[in-house]
Amino acid sequence: MSTAMRDVMIEAHGLTKSYGKPGVRVLEGVGLQVARAGIHALLGPNGAGKTTTVRILATLTTADSGTARVAGYDVVTDRRQVRRAISLTGQFAALDETLTGEENLRMMARLSGLPLAQARARAGELLERFGLTDAARRQARTYSGGMRRRLDLAAGLVGSPEPGVFFLDEPTTGLDPRSRRELWQVVRDLAERGAAVLLTTQYLEEADQLADRIAVLNQGRIVAEGTPETLKSRVSGHRLDLVLSNREAYLRLATRAVHHSPETLTLGIPTDGTAAHVRALLDETDPHRTDVDRFSVHSATLDDVFLALTAETGTGTATETGTTEAPSHV
Ligand SMILES: Nc1ncnc2c1ncn2[C@@H]1O[C@H](COP(=O)(O)OP(=O)(O)O)[C@@H](O)[C@H]1O
Ligand SMILES: [Mg+2]
Repeated sequence: MSTAMRDVMIEAHGLTKSYGKPGVRVLEGVGLQVARAGIHALLGPNGAGKTTTVRILATLTTADSGTARVAGYDVVTDRRQVRRAISLTGQFAALDETLTGEENLRMMARLSGLPLAQARARAGELLERFGLTDAARRQARTYSGGMRRRLDLAAGLVGSPEPGVFFLDEPTTGLDPRSRRELWQVVRDLAERGAAVLLTTQYLEEADQLADRIAVLNQGRIVAEGTPETLKSRVSGHRLDLVLSNREAYLRLATRAVHHSPETLTLGIPTDGTAAHVRALLDETDPHRTDVDRFSVHSATLDDVFLALTAETGTGTATETGTTEAPSHV
């Protein structure tokens, strides 16, 4: 176990945080562990507390209680050492728009203390590694969203040694699918070189593609944690939609559903999609064969997966009565 422990680069226990009025908790005891050469996704909807968690770990804000160590340093008492060990996307929002990508990186390399020749070499190396060589001589303001984010990441790497811990807060939000894939490759590359990466995302697909471990954060709590495979195995891959014949049946079955449409008396219930399970579900939900008018089976959406995970722990937003439409989450 001790070897494994030495490889833990980000470790948090019981982080809590409220803003302003005490009592309105944004984080309710968040714990995390991220290993060297690992990608850990913090998956959750808007407002779940992802950015707050990252800001605490990156020493930009403090928790009300709980402890966290990053690269072996305490985020409160060893703040300076933590800052030297990490890279946080967005922290170089100070990219100069009027400079070229190359000029930006050279300037930052110089600021980080590299002599001119080394700064040039380092900038060239990073432009190459992040697929920006062709755009190196263009002003940063002409860059696409994806290119900007890659330049931003490169900027976090100019110093030496490279940081061992990366915090990427929703790095692909707003990017087109191709830019997203390019950025995924960059993130994988960081981990392959040995970094610990904590990435926040609202997209299950992204967490699934990139992460070795996923923590699902909902309303300030980790409601599920594990490898993508174990999490996916906890939710069924399909949804059985039942169109009910009466409102009583709708209300009776609503708590089991991950999808609610009260106007059409339709409920979606997780299933693995096999004939055996669908048959069993139909028999179980409608033993007298009077309550279900029609049904359909289709692949679960990301919303379904997220709702199923959060509903298991009772922190989901699927209501007790199911009379409101469940909001879209992931
Ligand atoms: N500086 C702040 N002051 C007051 N409330 C805040 C502040 N920052 C975040 N919040 C609130 O904390 C909750 C979690 O926010 P955040 O950590 O940004 O979530 P996420 O990044 O998952 O969207 C939200 O309800 C948000 O409105
Ligand atoms: Mg956020």
